[in-house]
Amino acid sequence: MLLAVLLLLLPMPGLRTAHGHPLYMRLPPSTLQVLSAQGTQVLQAARRNAQWAVMSLAMEIQHRLHGCQGPGHPRHLASFLQEPSEPGPCGERLPGAANVTRAHGRIVGGSAAPPGAWPWLVRLRLGRQPLCGGVLVAASWVLTAAHCFVGASNELLWTVALAEGPRGEQAEEVPVNRILPHPKFDPQTFHNDLALVQLWTPVSPAGPARPVCLPRGPPEPPAGTPCSIAGWGALFEDGPEAEAVREARVPLLSEDTCRRALGPGLRPSSMLCAGYLAGGVDSCQGDSGGPLTCSEPGPRPREVLFGVTSWGDGCGEPGKPGVYTRVAVFKDWLQEQMTAAAAAREPSCRELLAWAAPAEPPADGAGLCAFYARRCPRSDGACARRAHQQCLQRRRRCELRSLAHTLLGLLRGAQDLLGPRPGLRRRAPASSRPARALREPAGHSAREQRTPSGLRAAGETSAKQRPEPRGDTKDCPGMKALQQRLAALQRAHAWVLQLPSEHLAMNFHEVLADLGSKTLTGLFRAWVQAGLGDRRVVFPGLVGLEPATLARSLPRLLVQALQAFRSAALAEGELEGP
Ligand code: ARG
Repeated sequence: MLLAVLLLLLPMPGLRTAHGHPLYMRLPPSTLQVLSAQGTQVLQAARRNAQWAVMSLAMEIQHRLHGCQGPGHPRHLASFLQEPSEPGPCGERLPGAANVTRAHGRIVGGSAAPPGAWPWLVRLRLGRQPLCGGVLVAASWVLTAAHCFVGASNELLWTVALAEGPRGEQAEEVPVNRILPHPKFDPQTFHNDLALVQLWTPVSPAGPARPVCLPRGPPEPPAGTPCSIAGWGALFEDGPEAEAVREARVPLLSEDTCRRALGPGLRPSSMLCAGYLAGGVDSCQGDSGGPLTCSEPGPRPREVLFGVTSWGDGCGEPGKPGVYTRVAVFKDWLQEQMTAAAAAREPSCRELLAWAAPAEPPADGAGLCAFYARRCPRSDGACARRAHQQCLQRRRRCELRSLAHTLLGLLRGAQDLLGPRPGLRRRAPASSRPARALREPAGHSAREQRTPSGLRAAGETSAKQRPEPRGDTKDCPGMKALQQRLAALQRAHAWVLQLPSEHLAMNFHEVLADLGSKTLTGLFRAWVQAGLGDRRVVFPGLVGLEPATLARSLPRLLVQALQAFRSAALAEGELEGP
């Protein structure tokens, strides 16, 4: 209704000409399509951010309620718990999936894996960009390559996409709680290229993801054993990424063969190599962190993780087999990390940010900050308070970091909009590759490495479940205020949170530029008409009409569109309100 009135009031001229010169110009459908696609992305990011903000606060409330009401740990707070090291079933593939890997075919030279064939294979994403593979080794732990985190060690920015199901059921995406690179990882030599990633929520046993088996320790299978590699990496060197998981079978090679092939760059104490000296079948960029598993024979064969994809000299080149981190030699480190007591390590930023900090240290010295008080003698209250302050300080640093990254992410998100799209010119991407020294370990040629480029907005994690705060609020100081904050947050974001998923697309219907209104910066005044579900808005904006100026004007138009939808929804809410 309001819109109809607006439309009548607004001058919406068609393409008119004066003395044969056009006065107005409509952006062509192809550009509207680009705008719509990018608008949809921005809308989805706004929804994820809103979900994340609401979920974090809801978690804080639950955590506090939990503190007030005594023990009993909700599932989503499992990261505060120790991972039980009970050896559940592992390494079991779907019946029938075990035979699909062909010995040859042509990752490089592999074949497409059927959905659900590798239930432990995960994808590590920085923002929305998939950068590495990983392997689920326990309900809350993923093993991957340490080099994936060079220059991008902020756990708040990473998520893990779990394996999809056998019928292509959507992979669950889980935020990362903690990244533990091996303390002796050397980015120059790729020595000890291994990292453990702790998930924020453990993998649901009801979903399709399952852990692989870890080796019981050396010895490893003998040279010649056919093992499997899998991942979404490039199909050939510098080639495109695979759209679906690919797999290949590669034999383990002896230490001698590996040394001869790869020279001094190979450190057999932490690396093994596998593949064909004839070349043609190999892992490649993007496969890093993914699994090299060998099947352990028996009545129920199990896949055991002996390698984590680390580096190579090119991909599939003759005489240059792929190099994998030797998992078996790290068995003790892995066990230690996965079973460490919560108080033995510093709380992660994600934990601290979801935590309602008490003003005073808890009398029993337990809780999230226990790590800082670990050296305090029992009766030393001053020491406990200092430790508590130290913990609060770290939380403030985490808050700043999270804020800085959100802002940075938004900025970069805007820059991403200038990426290659039909009708728009590509901007040279800012180089974010590590120094050459990082990519070229001493003593041999380049180790292919994908780098964390294209950072996106922090907190772009999809909230898979939003815990509703419930329980008694009396006897829980500060709870009321927190719940009010939550209600306010939910109200502020209701416009995007309540959008039905089928309406989660923005459509730009028309952009009409006034050709007589060129500004000093080369932009034109324009009327923009956009739709979201059954809601339509019209707003004035500035638009460029050449590829470069158009690209420059897009981010602002998208933000304006978001604002217009938000105001329209709020206005409607007010009109319809009680
Ligand atoms: N370092 C690569 C990555 O970051 C993996 C390279 C594996 N190369 C090979 N030829 N096997 O994805």
